[in-house]
Amino acid sequence: MLLRPPMTAPTYHLTSYGCQMNKLDSELVESRLQQRGYRPAPQEGAADVVLLNTCSVRQHAEDRVWSKLGKLRQRKRTEPGLVVGVLGCMAQEHKRYLLARMPHVDLVVGPSAFGDIDDQVEVARKKNLELAATREPAKTKHQVAGAGVVVVDQGVSGDRIVRDVRVRPHRSQAFVSVMRGCNMPCTYCIVPTTRGDEVSRTIAEITDEAQRLCDDGVTEITLLGQTVNAYGRDLTGQDATLARLLRELHAIPALRRLAFITSHPNFLSADLIDAMAELPKVARYLHLPAQSGSNTVLKAMRRGYTVERYLARVEQLLAKAPDIELHSDFIVGYPGETDDDFAQTVALVRRVGFAQSYVFKYSPRPGTVAAEQLSDDVPEAVKETRNQELLAVQGELSVAKNRALVGQIVEVLVEGDSKVDGRMSGRTAHHRLVHFTSTDAELIGRYVPVRVTQALAHSVVGDLLADSEGQEGAHDRAEVLHP
Ligand code: 5AD
Ligand code: SF4
Repeated sequence: MLLRPPMTAPTYHLTSYGCQMNKLDSELVESRLQQRGYRPAPQEGAADVVLLNTCSVRQHAEDRVWSKLGKLRQRKRTEPGLVVGVLGCMAQEHKRYLLARMPHVDLVVGPSAFGDIDDQVEVARKKNLELAATREPAKTKHQVAGAGVVVVDQGVSGDRIVRDVRVRPHRSQAFVSVMRGCNMPCTYCIVPTTRGDEVSRTIAEITDEAQRLCDDGVTEITLLGQTVNAYGRDLTGQDATLARLLRELHAIPALRRLAFITSHPNFLSADLIDAMAELPKVARYLHLPAQSGSNTVLKAMRRGYTVERYLARVEQLLAKAPDIELHSDFIVGYPGETDDDFAQTVALVRRVGFAQSYVFKYSPRPGTVAAEQLSDDVPEAVKETRNQELLAVQGELSVAKNRALVGQIVEVLVEGDSKVDGRMSGRTAHHRLVHFTSTDAELIGRYVPVRVTQALAHSVVGDLLADSEGQEGAHDRAEVLHP
């Protein structure tokens, strides 16, 4: 939803890369800019301010941004007033390089400084206009100059400002940040460097934001944190845990679904398991990245658990909440990973029977322990083969789970049009993507019953039922309608 802009409002275009936290940050940036009177440009080429909210987690994510910045440099040659901003993890990680080698970048803002991004954009815009007025137009891309506004390391955190809940992409769904940063020692990961130390918001701040979102029509909230189930460990003496937070939020009457991502296996506490088992609004999936099924690799990654411990936690969870489905992330080709290590990862995937896994080829991130101390010794071709094999195994498991749903009625929160013409899609409480035939925009944001007719690898297809039809056949608490 947009706030009404003044007639001569400058325009912006924002592209978001990376994780869900980045998406939420992008919403925050948009909300600040709109409150300041900016409005979204119909396309990037028409925008006065072009912002890239970037990700450093793998080289590939960064390469996309570098190539985009190359193109923006050309554009800036003829449009000196244009503001180019690099935000997020790459801003933090590459601030020096950006300043020294990319003079056309006007604005470099790290992920912990989005709270007053509108001020920074304004400063950059003014500086640019002054520059444009006093300088000859650049004849080559090498003469292009930028405003050089840099806010990294600290700044006003987006979590510290009161969010304008009206600015959000979905009517009924919203992300809520519960903590920033990460204190875990995983050797491969750049996130603790780019996002800094863990800082949790208080339960009062989070519940207030959630309540305001629900008052404005939200019914599904996804809590975000890099290690969301470690929530609150920096808030000493406040008894702030994810389990308690879930219980508090669960009491908001208008809220119907409550999810949280991403969890770390070491913090899957008995309390959290109880909360997931007892609270019917809590989403029926748990994203619990295992990363590898080999104890040797897990140790090298400094993940802090063994395969046996991971499995024991999962068993404890499923003993109390058997309808929960597990999702995971895996890295293949970590330095030193042997065929046997990889075979153990495949075995873990089969053993747990994940409903969904993301598989990534190891990408050395400069500055991380793994990149500095170990050689990236698994050949690219081997990484690729392992990647494909693991995806194929996961695909089999996902299809089997989806097949088991054929004939059942599931409750779908409708998100919008699906890619196939004439179809819409949404998700179940298990986060399963469901497509059904309809073009009724009125359904967006509503919970509807769908009878599953067909299972695919990453989704199911079904028939939309009249609301009354959804009442029968509710046998599996797994995905079915709330009473
Ligand atoms: N290379 C490959 N994958 C990585 N991830 C994090 N760092 C790297 C890296 N250097 C993956 C992990 C994490 C997910 C968000 O990205 O699996 O859970
Ligand atoms: Fe990418 Fe990680 Fe930063 Fe998210 S926190 S944007 S995944 S590097």
